[in-house]
Amino acid sequence: METILVLDFGGQYNQLIARRVRECNVYCEVKPYTISLAEIKALAPKGIIFTGGPNSVYEDDSPRYEAGIFELGIPILGICYGSQLMAYSLGGEVSTAPVSEYGHTQMTVTKADPLFTEVATETIVWMSHTDYIAKVPAGFAVTAETATCPVAAMSYEEKGFYATQFHPEVMHTTEGMKMLSNFVYRICGCAGDWKMSSFVERTIKELQEKIGTGKVLCALSGGVDSSVAAVLLSKAIGKQLTCVFVDHGLLRKNEGDEVEEVFGKNGHYELNFIRVNVRDRYYAKLKGVTEPEEKRKIIGEEFIRVFEEEAKKIGAVDFLVQGTIYPDVIESGLGKSAVIKSHHNVGGLPKVVEFKEIIEPLRMLFKDEVRKAGLELGIPEHLVFRQPFPGPGLGIRIIGEVTEEKVHIVQEADAIYREEIAKAGIDTELGQYFAALTNMRSVGVMGDFRTYDYAIALRAVNTSDFMTADAAKLPWEVLHKVTNRIVNEVKGVNRVLYDCTGKPPGTIEFE
Ligand code: XMP
Repeated sequence: METILVLDFGGQYNQLIARRVRECNVYCEVKPYTISLAEIKALAPKGIIFTGGPNSVYEDDSPRYEAGIFELGIPILGICYGSQLMAYSLGGEVSTAPVSEYGHTQMTVTKADPLFTEVATETIVWMSHTDYIAKVPAGFAVTAETATCPVAAMSYEEKGFYATQFHPEVMHTTEGMKMLSNFVYRICGCAGDWKMSSFVERTIKELQEKIGTGKVLCALSGGVDSSVAAVLLSKAIGKQLTCVFVDHGLLRKNEGDEVEEVFGKNGHYELNFIRVNVRDRYYAKLKGVTEPEEKRKIIGEEFIRVFEEEAKKIGAVDFLVQGTIYPDVIESGLGKSAVIKSHHNVGGLPKVVEFKEIIEPLRMLFKDEVRKAGLELGIPEHLVFRQPFPGPGLGIRIIGEVTEEKVHIVQEADAIYREEIAKAGIDTELGQYFAALTNMRSVGVMGDFRTYDYAIALRAVNTSDFMTADAAKLPWEVLHKVTNRIVNEVKGVNRVLYDCTGKPPGTIEFE
């Protein structure tokens, strides 16, 4: 398959570049700049993109790449730091710009160039730099400029080297997609063979070859990643697959039944489905526990224990499925990891299950591609477009001690909230939204009686990466309606609050 290689120099948009290239139907991989020339040759990419990065190329310890990369005969596009690295490595000059540029900038294309085919002469680009190319290397021509940046873009057409000081991958560069598409199609000569239909077909075949007559075990959560992984395997090997779904009593209203409806005995797929109902066991373990990290730990450990018990009943399996997706692969490869909360996912399973090998059928897909694959596989839309739901479930949306009564309250309130958001037609605009139960009780009046009940907190955020988020500006009418309904319909609640905090300083979940 034709591949574009993104060589990462520490830029914050490394994943975005890869996603944009894949949106052009060209497969793309991100690798750290430390990979060897031999590895690059083995990948045989049709083109290479250097990302941006926080360094100054003229400093001694800044990331570089050996000169051999320019001798491979492979087209290269340098972006921001990547453009400066190209200039510096090939004998140009890079220095601190007299004026730093940040944000939307008007750019003028000054020379016809394959990268700018069908791009307007005057166009808006996204700049973010303090260094700039002061002198282009021999053989290069300046192809675009801005009021303060004399080399907004340069190229050496015969060699296939292109460089942009701005970021074509961000949406603020209005014609950025056109430029990336020009690079992969016109300059690298790609044909565009990365399509979800062929991915699904190919993966099913590969899974069949790999698994043969082996037995496969999958922890199914009902989330989009594990659902798509399970269906891919079901299509490949049918009843050789067993899915274990742990219902810990901390799921949203009706969610356990919905998952069973799709994957269970009367569902759509050929596989063995085991639903383990362990709610009482969880409530007992969580009794009296209030500290968030302790709750997370108990929920995660109990999950592993339940899974281990089920795995023992099934007996030795050959393969264990994990729903790892490409952002996890990139991030672990680059040595980054989040440490704010101890996340609970199936990463802990290998230690407790006897198996020969892990299968990760989604490890090369971005989230939106997992969704496309899900649709391709005929998975119901309500599962494919489900918003993220944390492994510890409602356990971390109930502040303080978790009890069956509180789970019921938050389930009912959340169901009303989701129903009204969907009715208002704004569900697809929001990154994530849910109700949480504060541990606060306050005085109210209902009819002629004093009440002393809980407050529900509503949260809705806009986010693209879940690393940062803004509180969504929900229409007042929607908030008003949801508040009325929750207070009237959910026993034990007399107050509804809206969380206006962004991330940072808040996190998306409450605990
Ligand atoms: P926070 O609360 O850290 O959440 O801002 C960011 C995103 O991660 C989800 N989240 C989790 N997902 N296991 C998961 O699989 C977890 O333990 C967990 N905790 C938070 C959260 O829902 C949001 O989408």
